[in-house]
This record gives sequence, structure tokens and C-alpha cells, in this order.
Amino acid sequence: MSTLTDTTSLKLKKEFPEAEDFLPLNGTDHVELYVGNAKQAAHFYKTAFGFQSVAYAGLETGMKDRVSYVLQQDKIRLVLTSPLSESGEINAHLNKHGDGVKNVALWVDDATKSWQETTKRGAVSVFEPKTIEDENGKVVLSAIETYGDTVHIFVERSAYNGPFMPGYRKWKSHYNPSDAGLKYIDHMVGNVGWNEMNKWVDFYARVMGFAQLISFDDKDISTEYTALMSKVMTNGNGRIKFPINEPAEGKKKSQIEEYIDFYNGPGVQHIAVATDNIIETVTALKDRGVEFLYVPDNYYDDVLDRVGEIDEELKELKELGILIDRDDEGYLLQLFTKPVADRPTLFFEIIQRKGAKSFGKGNFKALFEAIEREQDNRGTL
Ligand code: FE2
Repeated sequence: MSTLTDTTSLKLKKEFPEAEDFLPLNGTDHVELYVGNAKQAAHFYKTAFGFQSVAYAGLETGMKDRVSYVLQQDKIRLVLTSPLSESGEINAHLNKHGDGVKNVALWVDDATKSWQETTKRGAVSVFEPKTIEDENGKVVLSAIETYGDTVHIFVERSAYNGPFMPGYRKWKSHYNPSDAGLKYIDHMVGNVGWNEMNKWVDFYARVMGFAQLISFDDKDISTEYTALMSKVMTNGNGRIKFPINEPAEGKKKSQIEEYIDFYNGPGVQHIAVATDNIIETVTALKDRGVEFLYVPDNYYDDVLDRVGEIDEELKELKELGILIDRDDEGYLLQLFTKPVADRPTLFFEIIQRKGAKSFGKGNFKALFEAIEREQDNRGTL
């Protein structure tokens, strides 16, 4: 459901000259996390991040083995799922990975064709197209594997008017904290293992028809201790952007390697959510208890030399620890949360774009140094 539409000036790498649209995507439909305690996680995402109660499925709706809460903030829809029994794939996933993203669901007009086009290009099917129905209409779903145990579900919901999907009922809560100004998913980053980045870049290019945006390599992104390589894949209309990271050799363990160790394999590293006013949003999130990475004060000493003139008061950005970067087309403001669960795995990025279409490369060094201080605190550097 992301709405970044203007891709005319995105710089696409020549290697994959056109994003071939055999897989038209309308946006992100939802992101489903498997979590140890969905009820409490839902409370966290409402209280801390300002998500709203949308739909529920569980014993009361005839779901025997799991419970799911659907939350939404503007176009961002999260599904939080926990198992109700001792066995099954959700338990296995939690045992291996801890809380994390299981399904990155993509909104399509034709879930059957999406499945056919991707599986014929080599995608591994998770389930074939199936139609689910209730009194509100029908939804067609299909799914394929991506990196690690992560899945892309194709969701076709043109004939559905219910709160989320058949099997769910409207979730009415007496507790409805205000939103925090989060609008849509800007990008979602995957961490993959050593030497696996190009394999997954190739997957998104050949199987999903994505194109590669101009990227950076480990010489660009390294600090004394940490290094990574990253390539950004985008679909044809630019609404879906998936940067893919792999660890690179540094003096000590990189944050990508730390993620892979604690997640026990590849997975979603961060979900970047966009706001129209990052100062208001971050102020609200901090008040609600969201923890952000600490940015060293000295980051701000020479930042304007690097990024030039900006609309915001530097003092306000510094107080909130908001990072600034610029590319040829404008600038962006961004900030990263600490991991949202106990394992140092999934975190969120808050981003406001003011023309820039890149991902904050200029901030990586400052950011990594901040992350390394956290790693040092955990004894995992
Ligand atoms: Fe990001």
C-alpha cells in the first residue's frame, strides 16, 4: 500500500535496464510478524508507535492454532501472530528466529498470475493460489519463498470489503491512542548471509522483475569495525524497494553478522516508515517510549557542510538525534530505532524525504558508529 509513485528520476543500474512488469505490484499489502505474545505486541505497537486496532482472528473467530491482530497507521498495515499450540511452523519460526517478519505481503490485482509468473521464473512456491471467502467477499492469496524463512504473499483483494480478510473480524478496542504521523512503508531491508547478496539481487531481478538502483559497496560503508555491502532493488513503479545487505569483512563482527547470528539466518533487518513531519513524529514516538539509536553530538558539528541548506532548525534535529543526508535530488531526514524485541534483530527507521530518493548512505558511517557502541554494550562486537 505504499504510494511512492514518482520513479522517473530513479537511477537504474544498466545491468537490469528495465524493470519488466510481468509482476505489477500496487504496494505493500501488509507485513506479518510472528511474535511470542501477539496480544502484548499489539499493545506495544498501539501505545509506542500509534497503530490503530483493525481486525482480529483467534479462537473466537474459529482459528484454532493461532491468534492474529491487525493494526494500521495510514497505509502501513501490520499483522502480529502468535501460536496457540505447542507445535507447528509458527513455533518453529519463533524458536529459531525470535520475534520477526515472516510475511511481506504484496498487493496485486491478480494473485494467480503473480504466482504463475514468479514460479515459472524459478520462485519456490509456499502455497498455490487459493480463494478465501466470507460474507464480505473474497480474497485470493498465493505465496513464494524469499530469503531465509521469509515469504512473499500475493494478496488480491479487489472483491473484498471486510476489515482485513476472511477469517478476521473487526477489532473494536476501548483503547485507541492517537497515531504518530507514520504514512507508508518507504522500504524494507533484508539481511542475507556471506556472499549471498548477488544471489538475492538476481532473484528480485529475474524472478520478480525488479531493477537495481545505483548502489554502494563495502568501501563506502565501513567503519573501523563494521562493513557491509548493499544493493537496492525496486519494482517497476517504485512503490516497493528492497535493499539487500550482506556482511563484509571488518576488524570485528559487523552488525549484519550479528543479526544473522541472532536471527539464525537471513531475514528482514528494518522496516522504514515515512512521515511528513519527522520532528513531530519522532517527538511523539520518544514521548511514547520508542528507543532510538544515540547519535553522537559531534555528528552535527559539520553536517551542514556535507548536506547544505535545510528547512529545519538544526538545533531541533540535534535534540532528537535526527540524521540528515543529501543526494542529487534533495535531502532526507532519518532516524533508526533500537531493536524492537530482545534479540538484536528487527528495528524500524523513520524517514522523511525532501526530494532525496536515496537511503542515507552518507549517514551510514555515523550510524554504524552509533550501532557499534550498542554492540559494545552487549559484548558482541
Ligand atoms: Fe533504511
